[in-house]
Amino acid sequence: MPAIIVVGGQWGDEGKGRVVDLLARKSHIVARYSAGNNAGHTVVNELGEFRLHLVPAGIFYGDKECIIGNGVVIDPAVLLQEIGELEERGVSVERLHISDRCHIIMPYHLLIDRLDEELRGKAAIGTTGRGVGPAFADKVGRLGIRMGDLIDPDAFRQRLSFILPYKNAVLQKLYGAEPLSFEDVSSTYAGYGPQLSPFVTDTAALVQDALDRGETVLLEGAQGALLDLDAGTYEYVTSSVPSSLAGGATVGMGIGPVHVSKVVGVYKAYQTRVGNGPMPTELVDKMGDALRERGWEYGATTGRPRRCGWFDAVAARYSARLNGLTSVAFTRLDVLDGFPSLSICTAYRLGESTIRTFPASSVALARCQPVYEELPGWQKDTRQIRAFEELPPQAKAYVERIQELIGCPIDLVSVGPERDQAIIVNPVF
Ligand code: GDP
Ligand code: IMO
Ligand code: MG
Repeated sequence: MPAIIVVGGQWGDEGKGRVVDLLARKSHIVARYSAGNNAGHTVVNELGEFRLHLVPAGIFYGDKECIIGNGVVIDPAVLLQEIGELEERGVSVERLHISDRCHIIMPYHLLIDRLDEELRGKAAIGTTGRGVGPAFADKVGRLGIRMGDLIDPDAFRQRLSFILPYKNAVLQKLYGAEPLSFEDVSSTYAGYGPQLSPFVTDTAALVQDALDRGETVLLEGAQGALLDLDAGTYEYVTSSVPSSLAGGATVGMGIGPVHVSKVVGVYKAYQTRVGNGPMPTELVDKMGDALRERGWEYGATTGRPRRCGWFDAVAARYSARLNGLTSVAFTRLDVLDGFPSLSICTAYRLGESTIRTFPASSVALARCQPVYEELPGWQKDTRQIRAFEELPPQAKAYVERIQELIGCPIDLVSVGPERDQAIIVNPVF
């Protein structure tokens, strides 16, 4: 079997970690291909609840190779902490491999992330503050330091000696901040190199060999289409290069696009967003609060309350098209148990027009008023249901209507965070 991509269809936190954990069972390799520790992917299994930021969600299976591909930016301190926590809880990281081409998050990236948000004032993005955006900016600006440099002490010092004066000039002259000491940064990072070096390899070659053997490679996306630099609600987006969209997966893994056979889009049964930027179906009322509390919608990375609202089918159809989805995994249906009625946004009112397309401009999207279709809710607990036919008729109608609006088969319905709380409508692969 070839490569299968799992991507977020909304503004992130759709349950990608949970879906990857389920699909990993039938895979040989699970790999992250973009973003950094701005991602927070939750997996619940017999060992408890885990929030992974960099390590792929396949790590809990003893027989899967787990790869952090070249498209990911790595904060070494965070990765080492995550590895340590996994080991402490009895999870082996022996099969973890990290690309020598991953870019490294440096202390000035963390500082600049915060200072830049302050400078933007009211136009702040609401970033996760993990230095991810500035690290990708340096990657594109050719000022990055990569994993291959980190594990080679001479290369690292040489690279830092070129880059730090530049970054210190930016810190001082643009932000009025204190410069960083070369010795402090280099000695801290010199400690990370030897700890990470056993994991570092040419991961693209490893994945290619697996594909050549006919093995299945699961590519775990981060964030969601609506946060993508090109497709998303620019400028309220994340900065991943390559993109977290399916189109970025093979670039971020270092393999050719010809290997991809399926693209699974993960959507939650309603809408959430963390950080700033337009969200047409946001509910700033008791209903929004009820969704947040029922769904415990607080960020897996920052703990921030997520903004909640009704399912936005205009945005969902748009992201399905951009990702070329072959399957949808629909999560958190159980969170909607007990609501008397549910709304789905099927179009936007923009001025005098009704539109069914997702505007390019965040300013235009902020002006869009949702046009809702109302469906009856169901008064039954769905968490123990394992067959689509056994869902309450209103829940089936809700899922089927969303499937029709997205224009892609919903092959998996999740009714709880645990591995077995899933309804397999059709095998995804
Ligand atoms: P990701 O970033 O896409 O991996 O998603 P997060 O882990 O940030 O957020 C998804 C949250 O939903 C996590 O707390 C999951 O444990 C939880 N979750 C996933 N699927 C379901 C589901 O079907 N029902 C419920 N109630 N929770 C779910
Ligand atoms: P997962 O993979 C939800 C959001 C931030 C902010 C914007 C830019 O768990 O779905 P950044 O720190 O990336 O520069 O912040 O993007 N964001 C996410 N929101 N889930 C994520 O990842 C996110 N990663 C970034 O909240 O609005
Ligand atoms: Mg998340």
